[in-house]
Amino acid sequence: MEVIKGNQAPSPQGILSLSVITVAQNRTEHLLESAAAIARWNGHREHIILDWNSSPAILRGDLPDDPRIRLVRVEGEKQWWLTRAYNQAVKLSQEYWLLKVDADCVLENAFFEAFQPDRATLQTCWHHSGLASESNFGSWGLFCVERGAFQRCGGFNEWLFGWGFDDTDLYERLLELPDTSLALLPRCGIRVLLHGHQQRLGQQHPGWHRPLAGWLLEAQRQGNITMAALSRQAWVTLGPARFNETPSQPPAPPAHWRRIRRQRMLRSLLNQPLRAGVAGLSLIIPDALVGWLLRMVGVQDWPNPPLPPEGPAGVRSLGHRRYVGGHWNRIGQLQLNFLIQQGLKPQHTLLDIACGSLRLGRKAIPYLEVGNYIGIDKEQALLDAGLHHEIPAALVEARRPLLIQASDFGFERIGRRVDMAIANSLFTHLPPDLILLCLQRLRPWLAPGACLYATFFESTSEQCHPKDPHDHGYFAYTRAQMLDLGNQAGLNPYYIGDWGHPRGQRMVAFKQDLQHPASDHVPG
Ligand SMILES: C[S@@+](CC[C@H](N)C(=O)[O-])C[C@H]1O[C@@H](n2cnc3c(N)ncnc32)[C@H](O)[C@@H]1O
Repeated sequence: MEVIKGNQAPSPQGILSLSVITVAQNRTEHLLESAAAIARWNGHREHIILDWNSSPAILRGDLPDDPRIRLVRVEGEKQWWLTRAYNQAVKLSQEYWLLKVDADCVLENAFFEAFQPDRATLQTCWHHSGLASESNFGSWGLFCVERGAFQRCGGFNEWLFGWGFDDTDLYERLLELPDTSLALLPRCGIRVLLHGHQQRLGQQHPGWHRPLAGWLLEAQRQGNITMAALSRQAWVTLGPARFNETPSQPPAPPAHWRRIRRQRMLRSLLNQPLRAGVAGLSLIIPDALVGWLLRMVGVQDWPNPPLPPEGPAGVRSLGHRRYVGGHWNRIGQLQLNFLIQQGLKPQHTLLDIACGSLRLGRKAIPYLEVGNYIGIDKEQALLDAGLHHEIPAALVEARRPLLIQASDFGFERIGRRVDMAIANSLFTHLPPDLILLCLQRLRPWLAPGACLYATFFESTSEQCHPKDPHDHGYFAYTRAQMLDLGNQAGLNPYYIGDWGHPRGQRMVAFKQDLQHPASDHVPG
C-alpha cells in the first residue's frame, strides 16, 4: 500500500507536517467558528474541509481567508456518513500527521501551545481508556494520528454510519497495530459548541422527531456497535485498500449483518418497561417490517449513495482508468501474470471480455503474436481511450489487436475460436441472467479444452441484487451460484479462489469440453 509521507521535520518556522481535517454536513455556523480558530494557528500546513452535501453549500468566501484551507464539496450524498466522509478527507490530505477536528470543536491557543503530534502514534481524548470523562463529551472525536497507522488499520469502518461508535472502533483497531503508542491530547483549550441531538442526526429529520432524537441516536449507536463487532475482521482486510488512488464504494455488508444491526437498533428503541417483553419478539418480526418501522421513526437502516454515472458521461467524469476500477498497472499486470501461469503463450488467441480501456490489453498486446488479442466491451468511449491513450500507435500497427464494441455478448463477431478468455471485474457488475447469457454465448467460441477465467465477489449467502446491471454496482455470489451458472451454460466450472486481487475478487474457471468442443452452433 502506498503511504503518503510528508516531511516529518519541522520547518525553520516550526510548521509541522500536519493536516487538519474536518467534515461537516449542515454545521456551517459551527464550522465558521472552529475553522477561524484553526486559521489563527501557524503550526499546520493544510486544513481540509469536506462539505458533505450541506444545504445550502458551504462557500469558500464564508471561511477564513487562509490559503491553507482547502474546501471540497461532495454532492449527491443524502445521508450523514461520517466514516466515509472522513476517509475521503484523509485521501485528499497530504501531510504526515492528521488532526481530526469536528466542526463543533473549537481549539484555542492553550491547546496548540501544549500540542505535540509526535508524542505518540495516536493521541485522543478517548473515554473508554479512562483518558477522558463525561465532562469533555464532545471532544471524544478529536484525535491526532500518524497517517500511516490510520491507513494500515483501514481508517474509519465505512460499514458504520450515522452517529456513534465510529471513533471508538477506529481507536481499537489502531491500538491492535504493532507498535502503536497512545497518549492523551492536551485537555486545555478545547471548547465544544453546544448543539442538540437533532443536529447530530443530520438533515433528514422532521420536527416531530425532536423529543425522540436522543433515543434515535442511541439506536444508531447500538447498531454501529453491533456492526463493528460483526465486520471488524473483514474491514481490517478490506480497509487499507480504500486509501489507494481510486475512491471506490465499499461493498455492501452481507444481508445477515444488516439484519442483526436492524434488530439491535429496534430493540434499543423499545423503552425499558417494554424491553423485557418485546425484545425477544423483535427477533421474529419480519425483516421488511423492522426496516419499515425504523424508517418511520427516522432511523435509516443503510445509506444508499448514488452510483457514479455509467457510459460516456461516467467515462468523462471518472476518466477511463478510474471507470474500470483504477489500480491501473497492478491489476493489468496481475491479469497477464495469472493467464501466463494458466498456460497462455504468445501464439494463443486471447479473448478479453469487457476489456474496458485495455488495462489488460496494454500488457497482453505486446506479449501476444499479431492479431491474437481480442477485446470486446460495451463502451466505445473506453475502447477509444484505451486504443488512443494507452497503447503506442506503432504497437497497434505491429500487433493489430481486434477491438469489438458489443453489449450483447455477440461473440460471433470474432469469427474464430479462442484459446483462452478472461472476464475481469465483469460478473461483479452483472445480475445472474446476464452472466448466464455471457457463458452460453461464449461456449461455442471456446476451443476444445479452452477456459474462461472470470472474477467475482464471493458471498457466503445468496444476496438480493437489483435486476439491472451497473458498471459501478456491486453484485456478489456464492461459490455454488457461480458453479451452477457454469453448469447451466454447459461448461465445466471450477473454483480457483484467491488470486491476489487487491479488492478480494475471487477467480472461477469455466472449461470447455475436450471431446465436445461446441454446441449446436459450431462456428464455421
Ligand atoms: C470494472 S470494468 C473492468 C474492465 C476490464 N476487464 C479491466 O479489468 O480493466 C467493467 C467493464 O465491463 C464492461 N461491461 C459491462 N457490461 C458489459 C456487457 N454487457 N458487454 C460488454 N462489456 C460490458 C464495462 O463497459 C466495463 O468496461
